[in-house]
Amino acid sequence: MKVNVGVLSAGGDCPGINSAVHWLVNSALDRDLVPVRGVMFNILGIRDGWKGLVEINPDKRASVNQWIMRLDNDVVRTWDRYGGTRLGTSRINPLAPQDDKTEIIVKNCKKLGLDALVVLGGSENLGVAYRLYKEGVKIIGIPKTIDKDLSETDYTLGFDSAVNIITEDIDRLRVTAGSHNRIFVVECMGRKAGWLALEGGEASGAAIILIPEHDFLMDRVVELLKMRKKAGERYSIVLISEGAKPRGMEPVRERRGKDGFGHFYLGGVGGFVAEEIEKSSNMEVRYVALRHLQRGGAPTAYDRRMGRKFGVAAIDMIVNEDFGRMVALHQGRIESVPLKKALDKLHLVDVEQYYNTKNYRTLDQII
Ligand code: F6P
Repeated sequence: MKVNVGVLSAGGDCPGINSAVHWLVNSALDRDLVPVRGVMFNILGIRDGWKGLVEINPDKRASVNQWIMRLDNDVVRTWDRYGGTRLGTSRINPLAPQDDKTEIIVKNCKKLGLDALVVLGGSENLGVAYRLYKEGVKIIGIPKTIDKDLSETDYTLGFDSAVNIITEDIDRLRVTAGSHNRIFVVECMGRKAGWLALEGGEASGAAIILIPEHDFLMDRVVELLKMRKKAGERYSIVLISEGAKPRGMEPVRERRGKDGFGHFYLGGVGGFVAEEIEKSSNMEVRYVALRHLQRGGAPTAYDRRMGRKFGVAAIDMIVNEDFGRMVALHQGRIESVPLKKALDKLHLVDVEQYYNTKNYRTLDQII
């Protein structure tokens, strides 16, 4: 039996996506497994996420060539070691109420003869995948987002690479901060969840960590920094998530408007905090927003390994007809969980368990 599988990445790119696709293809095309599985796979990479499935005209060869990449071992041979997504991605929301594209996508999946569709996405795009599943598309989800805010899985692809970048960049900033006797406010991503700041801050030894799950007091931040200075510290690093905010304020936006899923474009809270510190102290402060730098570059060993496990598991799930579910890491084991459950709520930092709300740092618990 021949099974056609479509695979796409949707939403923000991240290291680990290419590794997952590389191993998905390798597992799917493993000849030794054909007799065991009783199926042969044909893997079709869909370019630019949902956009590819909306724009494609399956009746026109040129359009199919434009939006579909036939994936085999040769094509994906080196993908595992590269960041970003070789399939491309986009941020379009096919469920936008005024412009719902579900029908078109379902029709195109049928015309392309897709027996299953693997979607690498975060909460929003796996939400789209779940809707398509309800419309009859045989969906498998793979969790990927540097924010690590999906429920029902202990890991989402890209997170470890991003934490490593944050750590390396803070190492660099330490040198210049110490030389100049300065405070550095470093802003990392993390819209609703503070995992990147918390774990990046823990790894890099940031003096103060500010996360979206706990509104901070500006006065307390300044007080903590003054205490450190008094204790003889030459410099301090304040690591803040883009979604963190001082008590009583709204999150700071980088620019006007919203993305396709109705989210404001966040960014700049680090600059605000830096200015406030300078205003209320005689300390010299600099501000660095890591922005998309923390989503770039090659995947870490962990992201390559997790990509491999997630990619292989996705094919196993197709063989077992485990549709409407997401690959998940749970207490060191690869499992599958219902997409609906994974999407019920975001996985946020449990402040009581992991965060010191007095000194704005981790509680040194194992996360
Ligand atoms: O969803 C992951 C994420 O990295 C968020 O932390 C961040 O707010 C957003 O993507 C940035 O999105 P974009 O790539 O569209 O600028």
